Amino acid sequence: MFDLTGRTAVVTGAARGIGLTIAQVLSDHGASVAAVDLATEIHPVSEVEPAFGADIKYRAYECDVTDFDKAKQIADAIARDFGGVDILVNNAGIARDNLLMRMQESDFDAVLNVNLKGAFNFTRHLFRYLMRSKTGRVINISSVIGLMGNAGQANYAASKAGLIGLTKSAAKEFAGRGVTVNAIAPGFIETNMTAGLQNTDEYLKAIPLRKFGRPSDVAVAVLFLASDAASYITGEVIRVDGGLAMSS
Ligand SMILES: NC(=O)c1ccc[n+]([C@@H]2O[C@H](COP(=O)([O-])OP(=O)(O)OC[C@H]3O[C@@H](n4cnc5c(N)ncnc54)[C@H](O)[C@@H]3O)[C@@H](O)[C@H]2O)c1
Repeated sequence: MFDLTGRTAVVTGAARGIGLTIAQVLSDHGASVAAVDLATEIHPVSEVEPAFGADIKYRAYECDVTDFDKAKQIADAIARDFGGVDILVNNAGIARDNLLMRMQESDFDAVLNVNLKGAFNFTRHLFRYLMRSKTGRVINISSVIGLMGNAGQANYAASKAGLIGLTKSAAKEFAGRGVTVNAIAPGFIETNMTAGLQNTDEYLKAIPLRKFGRPSDVAVAVLFLASDAASYITGEVIRVDGGLAMSS
């Protein structure tokens, strides 16, 4: 049921952290993976790519997801190299935290551009390939911050809430073509993005399961949504947060 053999997945922001783990888990379950990030050299798997030879199973692509034209070029190249695309995981994301009254315009724009426009760009350019798949899937990595808001993260929260609106709208537009669109809202996951946070004890107290998540906790939720098991789920947001954003 979780076998993705014969399917091609595009994962953005796949050089490290949650994206890298998603790429690895999808690959472990049989998918061919196009791993997109700012530079191919930073991708640990780019070194092993030639071993796959003509039968590509995993290839790194260099692309800034905020660049609409470059995203089209890369989307078309991936579809050509792999012979189609079945799964898109919009994972690339950044944070530039500050209180709203101190936030620079450039920090607001940068976060919205990567986290929201980047997902639009890849969804826009890959839809023509996804709709030819019998099992087309778009999975957007949002955040519980997009559900709850957070002091010091107005730009990040706006981008992640926007991603949920994008998810639901695309789910309605793409349903007629058999492509499902869902979002995952992770809580506090141990990666580079969270490594510098202070007062982690305060965060722990707010998490009912009293522990931080791992990238693999998010990756298995992606695997589920990408698989045949989730074929009747669309427009949904799945929290992977240890209960942090549970509503009463
Ligand atoms: N870590 C957490 O606690 C957490 C919680 C909720 C949501 N998320 C979301 O999960 C996703 C992955 O986060 P992470 O913790 O692994 O972060 P990370 O910083 O470890 O990795 C992010 C990756 O995205 C890439 N990237 C950044 N800007 C890019 C661009 N313009 N074009 C292409 N690639 C770009 C980076 O090079 C990096 O490889 C993000 O969308 C993040 O917002 C993370």
